[in-house]
This record gives sequence, structure tokens and C-alpha cells, in this order.
Amino acid sequence: MPPIETHSPRLLLRAWRDADLPVFAALNADAEVMRHFPAPLDAAQSAQLLARIRAHFEAYGYGFWALERRDTGELIGVTGLAQVGFDAPFVPAVEIGWRLARAHWRQGYASEAARAALAVAFERLGLEQVVSFTVPANLPSQAVMRAIGMQRDESGDFRHPRVPDGHPLQPHVLYRIRRAQWEARR
Ligand SMILES: CC(C)(COP(=O)(O)OP(=O)(O)OC[C@H]1O[C@@H](n2cnc3c(N)ncnc32)[C@H](O)[C@@H]1OP(=O)(O)O)[C@@H](O)C(=O)NCCC(=O)NCCS
Repeated sequence: MPPIETHSPRLLLRAWRDADLPVFAALNADAEVMRHFPAPLDAAQSAQLLARIRAHFEAYGYGFWALERRDTGELIGVTGLAQVGFDAPFVPAVEIGWRLARAHWRQGYASEAARAALAVAFERLGLEQVVSFTVPANLPSQAVMRAIGMQRDESGDFRHPRVPDGHPLQPHVLYRIRRAQWEARR
């Protein structure tokens, strides 16, 4: 299936190339970028993750896109859509997620990219709903969720099954946006 690609005023949300791996690995190795995850990723883990992302594109036509600045051509991170790959009460579901290199934070890039990804979800894929989740302490990520019109579903709080029992990063909050809410904001 050919990958869907899209863009926003300042960004390309594009398919991955082999040459992207070093920048992707540097992003995932940054302890500050990864502070709300159990650990940064080493080079082998980043290569495996990128292979999984590319396999998701092969299977579904969409996924977590490479985020490229249109003015400089720099790869600045990842934003996209994916089938939730673990069991939880809100699954099956498509999630939206983001991870940007520190030099590009707080310039509106994550929310701009996320809006473009939501447009794909609702206009091209015809989804009825998109979810997102993070740890309660990840306020920047929750700010992006709210900025794009997502609302917290307090009844959706869950313990992430891929985080070990008792780990402080196991409790997660759930946000949702439904098609009608997205259409009302356009
Ligand atoms: C979360 C992340 C992608 C945000 O990227 P960003 O490009 O800085 O976000 P934006 O500039 O689009 O900001 C969107 C909103 O978040 C707010 N925000 C961004 N960083 C913030 C921070 N550190 N503290 C508080 N609010 C913050 C912005 O003010 C903005 O809110 P507004 O629309 O009310 O003005 C970025 O911090 C990141 O990559 N973090 C590490 C990876 C991560 O945790 N990913 C999410 C995993 S669930």
C-alpha cells in the first residue's frame, strides 16, 4: 500500500528513508526528550522501532510520519497515527502521538503537525475517533492534545500494560477526539 503523506504550512509529514535513522536514533537517545518514558533508546532499539513504524505504513498506509521542516529540510521528529498495539479497555483504537527534537520545542510544530495528522484521520481514513495517552506528568503532551481539540476522558485512565507493575510511569491518562468534535472546530 503506498504511504499517505501530507503537509502543513511549515512541515512535511512524509514517509521514512533509510538515511533518517541517525537523526531518529539521536532523538530517541535524548534523555530529556524521553523523560516521560521508562528509558531512552539505544541505536539498536531505534532501528527496531523505525522498522516497526515502516511496517505499520506497509500494512495500513498511514503511521508515525517523519516530520520535516519545509524551510530547512531538517528532520525534527515524529508525529502520526497508529493502531494501538496493546490491550486496554479503549482498544481497538487509533492513537495520535508526537516526539520532537528539543531544539524545535515550543514553536507550535507539534500541534501544527498533529492537526495535519487529524485531518488525515478524519478526511482520508474516515475514522470516527482518535485517542491519545500519556503519563499525568507529561503536561506538554497534554497541552498538545488540548490544543488540537482533544478532551480528557477521566473514565479512561489506565495502567499501561507494557510498563512493569508498580513502575511510576504505569498510570496513564486518556484523551479522545470524535469526528463531530473535529468537524465543529474547522
Ligand atoms: C510534547 C512535545 C511534542 C510538544 O512539542 P511542541 O512543538 O513544543 O508543542 P507546541 O509548540 O505545538 O505546543 C502545543 C501546546 O503545548 C504547550 N506546551 C509545549 N511545551 C510545553 C511545556 N514544556 N510546558 C507547558 N506547556 C507546553 C504550548 O504552550 C502549546 O499550548 P497552547 O496551544 O495553549 O499555546 C514535545 O515537548 C516533545 O517532543 N516532548 C518529548 C516527547 C514526548 O513526551 N512526547 C509525547 C509522548 S505521549
